[in-house]
Amino acid sequence: MTGAEPQRIIVGISGASGAIYGVRALDLLQAAGVETHLVVTRSAHLTLSQELGLAPAALAEKATVVHNVADIGASISSGSFRTLGMLIAPCSVRTMSEIATGVTSSLMSRAADVVLKERRKLVLMVRETPLHLGHLRTMTALSEMGAIIMPPVPAFYALPTSLADMVDHSVGRALDLFDIETGSVRRWAGMAAARKADPDLP
Ligand SMILES: Cc1cc2nc3c(=O)[nH]c(=O)nc-3n(C[C@H](O)[C@H](O)[C@H](O)COP(=O)(O)O)c2cc1C
Repeated sequence: MTGAEPQRIIVGISGASGAIYGVRALDLLQAAGVETHLVVTRSAHLTLSQELGLAPAALAEKATVVHNVADIGASISSGSFRTLGMLIAPCSVRTMSEIATGVTSSLMSRAADVVLKERRKLVLMVRETPLHLGHLRTMTALSEMGAIIMPPVPAFYALPTSLADMVDHSVGRALDLFDIETGSVRRWAGMAAARKADPDLP
């Protein structure tokens, strides 16, 4: 992107558990002054309601632009509309699988496909457990296509004291991949302090 254009990123929220990851990504991007283009699946509106009690209008306030998931004519459908890439948080198995097949029947999968073809960053916070062989093979295929598979796994080394800490660390690490500084990551600085306190540490 040129200096004349704003920093902009596509944020997708699909219907996996963990709608909070997408919501916090929008909050942190807004605070960082990054333009966000939001696309939300129908199932995600269920999880947003069930997990957070968040209605579409309240969610929309967190994004710069909200695109209807059925609007295949949206700006983010074209590679000529430049973005840093796309974060899907959380990413359901259904959305992941649709992207992997190249069947771009919604704006979610079309925008992701465009990001891949333009060789931009596609970061998928895939949330399902346990995983069967088909899930793993799909992740491998996407990784081979250039996507980054980033399940939202808590980092206990960061010593989180709340769910919010855990979520913000994971979202911050996902946005690190786009070189966006959110200030939400407690960065590892090595074991020097711990060793000083306990010289018997290995
Ligand atoms: C409360 C709730 C939690 C869900 N959690 C997950 C999940 O963690 N991972 C997943 O892949 N699907 C999950 N699903 C199922 C998806 O919503 C479903 O497969 C849906 O078709 C996904 O569509 P989408 O990818 O268009 O959002 C959940 C559904 C509900 C209602």
